[in-house]
Amino acid sequence: MSVQNLENKVILTHGSGSSAEVYLFGATVTSWKVSGLERLFLSKKAILDGTKAIRGGIPLVFPQFGTAKNPNDASAKLPQHGIARISTWEILSTTSGTSVSNGDEEVTATFGLTDSQISNNLREAWPKKFQLIYTVSLTARTLKTSLEVKNEDNEPFNFHVLFHTYFSVPDISKVSILGLSNLTYTDKVLNGTRALESREKITIDQEVDRVYENVASDEIVVDLQEGKGNFHVKPSNLRDTVVWNPWIDKSRGMSDFDDEEYKLMVCVETGTVADYIPLSPGHNWQGSQILSVDI
Ligand code: BG6
Repeated sequence: MSVQNLENKVILTHGSGSSAEVYLFGATVTSWKVSGLERLFLSKKAILDGTKAIRGGIPLVFPQFGTAKNPNDASAKLPQHGIARISTWEILSTTSGTSVSNGDEEVTATFGLTDSQISNNLREAWPKKFQLIYTVSLTARTLKTSLEVKNEDNEPFNFHVLFHTYFSVPDISKVSILGLSNLTYTDKVLNGTRALESREKITIDQEVDRVYENVASDEIVVDLQEGKGNFHVKPSNLRDTVVWNPWIDKSRGMSDFDDEEYKLMVCVETGTVADYIPLSPGHNWQGSQILSVDI
């Protein structure tokens, strides 16, 4: 068990050999290895020097998912996906070797971001006093990401939150996603058309960008159809799930994504983004996801 604090990132290593890496820029988890295999997708063209949101891993979306629909929204002036993923966080604490309920041990790192630590431009675009506390916890086979939002302003504020997880998959043509059937979704590829998901297994053979609302199942599965390596995603206090794959044309349009990489990733993103979460002054909100992988 160890936690290494490097200049621009933290590396968590579990006694089993699993590991995770978190950049201070965006508090972006960029690597999660179990049994020696990388489980998160990070583009080979990802920019890691803090000049652009990191393309891959688990960027954090707060307080705005995409861009605001309504010009009167308080977050209308924020860039796509908000503040958290493009700000540099501080390390608040680390622990190693704490026992968890299943008898395993976990190693954790906690990161903080307040309004006083973001750029002037972002503060002007969203002039709210807030504190974010983000904890990344690693066990032998799980990675938990947990976010606490504190309203330190004198006024209520609204926010979205999303763990924008990029899973590494060997072959997108074999992947199916379970746990989202019978849900209403907004299709961002079809200009926000709403529809009902009838499929038990969601497969991907074209650009997909959907926001599934009010997810009731307590687990979403990304089945790789390889007999192993399937992912399980357990959200807590998060209402929606976004499924995204840019496919061919969108991949070509992204400077920090290789043209062929759409075959090797799928984003399954848990959060609350269909509606804003209102938070009163002095109050806290907390939500988390636990990722696990079959080995
Ligand atoms: C997804 C959105 O969450 O993120 C997509 O639903 C978006 O619409 C994608 O294209 C990637 O966004 P970005 O800003 O990282 O290119």
